[in-house]
Amino acid sequence: MRRTMTEDGQPQVTITHTLSALHVQVSFETGNGVLKEAMDKETLMDVLPWFVVGAVIVITFIVEWFSRVAAIKRRYQVPGLNRESIKEGNLPRMVAAGSVHAFLEQLHAQFGPVASFWWGPRYCVSVCEQGAFEQYIFGVEHKPADIYQPLEHVFGSDCVFFTPESDVVARRNIYNISFYNQTSLERHFRCFQRVADEMLETLKHVTEDDHVATSDVMSSYAMKAVLYSLCGDTTLPDSDIRFLQQTSASICSLIEEMLLKPTSEERSALIRTEQEKIRDLLGDVVSDRKDHSPEADDKLFIDHVIDGEVPLSDLITYLLLGCYKTSNLLSWAVYYLCRHTDVQSKLHEEIQTILGDEHMTLASIPRLEYMQQVLNETMRRSALVPWTARVKAGPCLLGGYKVPGQTPVILALGIAGRNPEVFCEPEKFDPDRFSIENTQLQKPLSFVPFGFPGNRKCPADLFSFAHASVALVTILRNFRIKMVTEQDVKPMHGFVTIPSEEIWLTLLKR
Ligand code: HEM
Repeated sequence: MRRTMTEDGQPQVTITHTLSALHVQVSFETGNGVLKEAMDKETLMDVLPWFVVGAVIVITFIVEWFSRVAAIKRRYQVPGLNRESIKEGNLPRMVAAGSVHAFLEQLHAQFGPVASFWWGPRYCVSVCEQGAFEQYIFGVEHKPADIYQPLEHVFGSDCVFFTPESDVVARRNIYNISFYNQTSLERHFRCFQRVADEMLETLKHVTEDDHVATSDVMSSYAMKAVLYSLCGDTTLPDSDIRFLQQTSASICSLIEEMLLKPTSEERSALIRTEQEKIRDLLGDVVSDRKDHSPEADDKLFIDHVIDGEVPLSDLITYLLLGCYKTSNLLSWAVYYLCRHTDVQSKLHEEIQTILGDEHMTLASIPRLEYMQQVLNETMRRSALVPWTARVKAGPCLLGGYKVPGQTPVILALGIAGRNPEVFCEPEKFDPDRFSIENTQLQKPLSFVPFGFPGNRKCPADLFSFAHASVALVTILRNFRIKMVTEQDVKPMHGFVTIPSEEIWLTLLKR
């Protein structure tokens, strides 16, 4: 390095550096900060290859660095589908799969138990295993309103599915009074028995040559039982009850379609008309009930609506959804009992042994252990309610992956019920999987047909067991049931899984 002065008096530094064959001479004019390179042509040609090598090394380093950062990011990103378009996400694939459940089956088969996809423009994660359920679910009590948005058309924007987080506990306390309180359960039970006796009177007139449509019998029983349990004895004529029963099936079966495709104006108008009719009808039931003031500790669900503790939309939800779920649970149970005559005989034997000629009571239900096994296996095998969903405000780790805050997480209950590591030969209908000994071998949350412990679990689990048990005891005590012809009924998965065709029965008197 040499310090000199330029002609115009500026200080100048000259660096001469020798690198084996390379000879570079660079001059800096330091006074005005301007860099001046002095390099003769020959030297440039000597230097160029070194610049190229250097540049390649630097670029390789940068690329490698970026790809490592991306790989680390990817390692933490939930594996899954890229979206097919910004607006539709993976909806075309979901539609092609035929149902949300079938789509989730494909997704998890490809990407494992924690997988991501795009529900329209919304990034979602789905989980289908006990371990992931356990990691995610505790304390998560909010439902993703945008996923459930079609239910707004069907049940109303203030129904239980859209409960604001701040109201979850207060509303749940009301549901608990209606569904878990001992007095309420006793009253529900009496209702079920009364409606089941009515059903029996009708069935007694059926001859062995008649073909009985299972869905008709079950949905009529389910609607009357839910209606009277929630609203007390109403003066609604049979034609209105039949309207509610049919609307429950028609409207609930549309939910899946609306989850997969934007609702057409025509369809929305149809649903609006049906909803208005239901609101009018239940509005009349509410007015009638207002004349009857119950004791404070003897309120029915409808009385909580009258007192403004829960909205009318909740009554509509519980009525339509409750009827739809229980009637399909019963249809599937009857179907499996017809296909597995050994199970039907064993269940009948249990009823005879435990109840003899006695009347059934609420207290009999836990004693009917095999009945509970049959109902559990029916829900598992049919994937009756195939999924539910939750959303957490903040980010979380799930199966070692990072899930951003506000991501809807689908809990694929139906797929968990088919996990061969928990349920060997999952296609087989085998109520013994749920014997006390076998259940003890299952980890908690391996089988969750009613959802997860906490304030968003199905409030009607005990109600449904009692509801379904009363119907099956009444039928099996009086008849041997068989299908008119051996039908192989496929499931039609939706918000609730229903039989894809009518199940035709013959009733043989005992
Ligand atoms: C028949 C068998 C039934 C099954 C398998 C079933 C299953 C389920 C499941 C899986 C959930 C979601 C729970 C969660 O997210 O953790 C749920 C929620 C719900 N179920 Fe049921 N259910 C049944 C019967 C009923 C009945 C009879 C009623 C009404 C009388 C009912 C009313 C509801 C309501 C209102 C919710 C929403 C609760 C909330 O979001 O807070 N269910 N059910």
